[in-house]
Amino acid sequence: MKTLTVDLGDRSYPIYIGEGVLGEAGSLLVQARLTGALAVVTDSNVGPLYAERLSRVLGDTPLICTLPAGEEHKRLAQIEWLCGQFLEAGLDRSSAVIALGGGVVGDVAGFAAASFMRGIRFAQIPTTIVAQVDSSVGGKTGVNHPAGKNTIGAFHQPEAVVIDMTLLQTLPGREARAGLAEAIKHGVIADAELFAFMEEHAGAIVAGDPRALERPILRSCEIKSAVVAEDEREHGLRAILNYGHTFGHGIEAVTEYKRFLHGEAVALGMHAAGVMAEALGMVDAAFVERQRACLTAYGLPVTWRDLPVAETLALMRHDKKARGGTMKFIVPDRLGHVVQRTDIAESDVRNALEALRA
Ligand SMILES: NC(=O)c1ccc[n+]([C@@H]2O[C@H](COP(=O)([O-])OP(=O)(O)OC[C@H]3O[C@@H](n4cnc5c(N)ncnc54)[C@H](O)[C@@H]3O)[C@@H](O)[C@H]2O)c1
Ligand SMILES: [Zn+2]
Repeated sequence: MKTLTVDLGDRSYPIYIGEGVLGEAGSLLVQARLTGALAVVTDSNVGPLYAERLSRVLGDTPLICTLPAGEEHKRLAQIEWLCGQFLEAGLDRSSAVIALGGGVVGDVAGFAAASFMRGIRFAQIPTTIVAQVDSSVGGKTGVNHPAGKNTIGAFHQPEAVVIDMTLLQTLPGREARAGLAEAIKHGVIADAELFAFMEEHAGAIVAGDPRALERPILRSCEIKSAVVAEDEREHGLRAILNYGHTFGHGIEAVTEYKRFLHGEAVALGMHAAGVMAEALGMVDAAFVERQRACLTAYGLPVTWRDLPVAETLALMRHDKKARGGTMKFIVPDRLGHVVQRTDIAESDVRNALEALRA
């Protein structure tokens, strides 16, 4: 088992990573001061697979709250329902919440923990790649509103994150590959060696070999932790994690979140950002080709023939991350390094979108 620390002063917390660490969750969570009555929040896919196992290692039988699976249930109504369950079971300020599931469960359970009794402790046991390399670390919690994704929420850091790669074995392949787009992203923005490792071991990683997955997950958590430690509330540096996301959000919006999984839209977005960086003279053609080949090796899309360029561009202008009328782009200037640019001409953005249709 490997242990990392997210360095946030007196709110610092450990991330435990290893094959089979779920079996040690009981003692790890006690070490992380998660004592008192516990509520496990999970969803209707993950609960039947892992909740009983978790419950057994926790000792005292915890309250188990099962949300219906799916992004469409990431709603405020679930917060009210969860708080009702907590009250009925007699949870109080000394109780804690354990999120067992993907990013949806983590975001909803974390926000319920942030809100219940004005904030109780919580821990994350992520069960998807997205959650293990991204959403379980960093303390962003919340729900969607019909008018916008992730528009209601709070920063609430967990007390611990327990990452067991063996839980990924039941994850549908498409979900796994989409999650790996975020790990490839971490390589491009901060670690050329991670990128090279992911290029070299694509086969074993896609096949879900826990040993091959350890490094991408560990390095992703290290990179995300370091960024969050520096800029917890996204005043600056944290924006580099949005590489590929300005284009990606536009593509998700134009397809009404139906055609692509988030990671697939991010893969398209990373390719567009690479093409744009080349046009701006920031990287060479070899960079773009290497990134394209790597995304493709993970079964991720880098082209979408029917992409409606004008509509996507219009939606990108409305993206919440665009401020003061300028679009914000994270652009690579070499493998393992990116810069933020707010001065990119709309024609360059349009050309990059056009390139995705090729
Ligand atoms: N808080 C953050 O910083 C942050 C970062 C990235 C994404 N997110 C959020 O995360 C969400 C996406 O997360 P996700 O991709 O994990 O989606 P998800 O939680 O919906 O999980 C995807 C699907 O896989 C199922 N599943 C989960 N684990 C499984 C397992 N081990 N075996 C079998 N099935 C399993 C789920 O029930 C679901 O059907 C979005 O709502 C996004 O906004 C948050
Ligand atoms: Zn993302």
